[in-house]
Amino acid sequence: MKLTVERIAFRYGKEPLFKGLSFDVAAGEFVSILGPSGCGKSTILNLLAGILTPESGEMRVDGAPIHGMSGHFAYMPQNDLLFPWKTIMQNVCLHGRIHGDPKAAQARAEALFPLFGLAGYENAWPGDLSGGMRQRAAFLRTALCDADILLLDEPFGALDVISRGDMQDWLASMKQHLGRTCLLVTHDIDEAIYLSDRILVLTGRPAAIHREYRVTEANRTRDWLYAQGALRHSLHDSIRGLEAGPC
Ligand SMILES: Nc1ncnc2c1ncn2[C@@H]1O[C@H](COP(=O)(O)OP(=O)(O)OP(=O)(O)O)[C@@H](O)[C@H]1O
Ligand SMILES: [Mg+2]
Repeated sequence: MKLTVERIAFRYGKEPLFKGLSFDVAAGEFVSILGPSGCGKSTILNLLAGILTPESGEMRVDGAPIHGMSGHFAYMPQNDLLFPWKTIMQNVCLHGRIHGDPKAAQARAEALFPLFGLAGYENAWPGDLSGGMRQRAAFLRTALCDADILLLDEPFGALDVISRGDMQDWLASMKQHLGRTCLLVTHDIDEAIYLSDRILVLTGRPAAIHREYRVTEANRTRDWLYAQGALRHSLHDSIRGLEAGPC
């Protein structure tokens, strides 16, 4: 599904965070957002998910305006938000238990536990898992939602380099098979290049699109040093010097 963000304005206090932010994500497209810490990346996802409301502007899915929690989005926030009183299996199957067929949801989850490095932890409590395992569980819960658009806020930030690579590979393959529209917030330039069709670089506050990069198939390889050279340098140069600015 196509996502459109048009002239969004939003502020927490006096200083505006956005004064007319616009961008779109085509149906099935994978777009990453990079930008300085504190510029408002998580806030964009909170606005789309309906947790926050813009002062003005419009957000649309396939041309239809969205207000509040629309059900179009599977959202993985920056903190894992696992329910401590539910087991890992109960946590990851939450969406299926509420909206669909609980048995089917559990079967799908069981098949994915090993891939997510969680085999054997189905009945563990979130408090018994490491930070990286909790993050993988939160990502699995998001992946199991059937919503059309994935909103991912630094989903692999707490993972070790090997797990992160596995998760990125899995997300890349899922992108191809399911054709879901995806908006990813990350600080990892290599991750953005590997996964994205397009990368948006945000300025500091008030945040606007500083630059936009299209990623070619040739850039999207694990052979970072060779294939990504020019694009990677350009992204580094673009981000360096951008600051969030005063709040
Ligand atoms: N609930 C809140 N109340 C007041 N200010 C907030 C609130 N949440 C975020 N902010 C402020 O809004 C700004 C943008 O926050 P946001 O979390 O969107 O940034 P971000 O780009 O995701 O940063 P990071 O890369 O560090 O995750 C920050 O200055 C932050 O302090
Ligand atoms: Mg954030």
